[in-house]
Amino acid sequence: MTHPHETVDVALGERSYRIEIGNGLLGKSGEWVAPLLTRPKVAVVTDDTVGPLHLGTLRAGLSASGIEMVHHTLPSGEATKCWEYLTETVEWLLEQKVERGDMVVAFGGGVIGDLVGFAAATLRRGVRFVQIPTSLLAQVDSSVGGKTAINSTHGKNLIGAFHQPSLVLADVAVLGTLTERDFLAGYGEVVKYGLLGDAAFFDWLEVNAPILAAGDIDKRIEAVRWSCQMKADIVERDETEKGDRALLNLGHTFGHALEAATGYSDRLLHGEGVAIGCALAFEVSSRLGLCSQEAPSRVRAHLKDMGMKTDVSDIEGNLPDANGLLALMGQDKKVTQGTLNYIMTRGIGDAFVTSDVDSDVVKAVLSDALAS
Ligand code: GLY
Repeated sequence: MTHPHETVDVALGERSYRIEIGNGLLGKSGEWVAPLLTRPKVAVVTDDTVGPLHLGTLRAGLSASGIEMVHHTLPSGEATKCWEYLTETVEWLLEQKVERGDMVVAFGGGVIGDLVGFAAATLRRGVRFVQIPTSLLAQVDSSVGGKTAINSTHGKNLIGAFHQPSLVLADVAVLGTLTERDFLAGYGEVVKYGLLGDAAFFDWLEVNAPILAAGDIDKRIEAVRWSCQMKADIVERDETEKGDRALLNLGHTFGHALEAATGYSDRLLHGEGVAIGCALAFEVSSRLGLCSQEAPSRVRAHLKDMGMKTDVSDIEGNLPDANGLLALMGQDKKVTQGTLNYIMTRGIGDAFVTSDVDSDVVKAVLSDALAS
């Protein structure tokens, strides 16, 4: 059965690139990578989950176009996004004699994409790289837009650079090896796009998301295309997050506080925090009279329909009280000159950035959420 092949262009002048979205792209990867190369060799960095599953297919796909591949495998997991593994990666790339005109390939989920992108940004003052994202979260969010980073003990993603990839290859076939939990966590970022900027996408997801979660390839391709198109449009308007790009952080201030409160552990995956955070952002917006009372109910109903974590009470174990969570929100990157910028909403598909939010209302919403 043939499936659609979609492309999304990210138009950023000389930093422009294309996102290729389809089923089975790994096995033909050389078709898109070869035209970018100055010599037929790439250095691939992956992790020890993705490598054993998919590296053989990638190697065959590159080799079919005469491209030789060397690879390096890092441990999987968020803890890899640190100086130690950045150093290891950069030194390995230098050992492989990767030159200024060469291409590095980030082959994995968000951790690999962020770390390898940052390595590429710094190596020889910047080499080009290809993102081949293998998680839903990476395909719809982190591989697009050029944010690269590692974590600091002071917080996530605090050390990094904007460095756009030269190509993104999103092969939905690899999503078939994700656990249901990881897939749904990634879906938290998909639903975010509908909620922040496109009510028609949210309508579409209400009908189609259960089908795509069950494995429908064409609907997966369409959801990734729609998400990437929305992200591309926003990044084109505001590449370095001076304005609109902050909309992509809908649900993230609450989500990051919950992630910090759970020690960035398995208790709460990033996308799960985003989903709960989106529901909280709608609740606060509704209490402030910015959106209707029906909007948060509709958001929560959809997340529940998908079998996702929806409420703070869905997180196992103890959490700090409302003051504790507010304090964690205050450590968010979106604090400027001591003021926390919130992404609030006038309704589904209509988010906006504001610092004008009464923290007593936020505290009341968090207290109620913790009590329920
Ligand atoms: N993940 C948010 C952004 O790329 O801006």
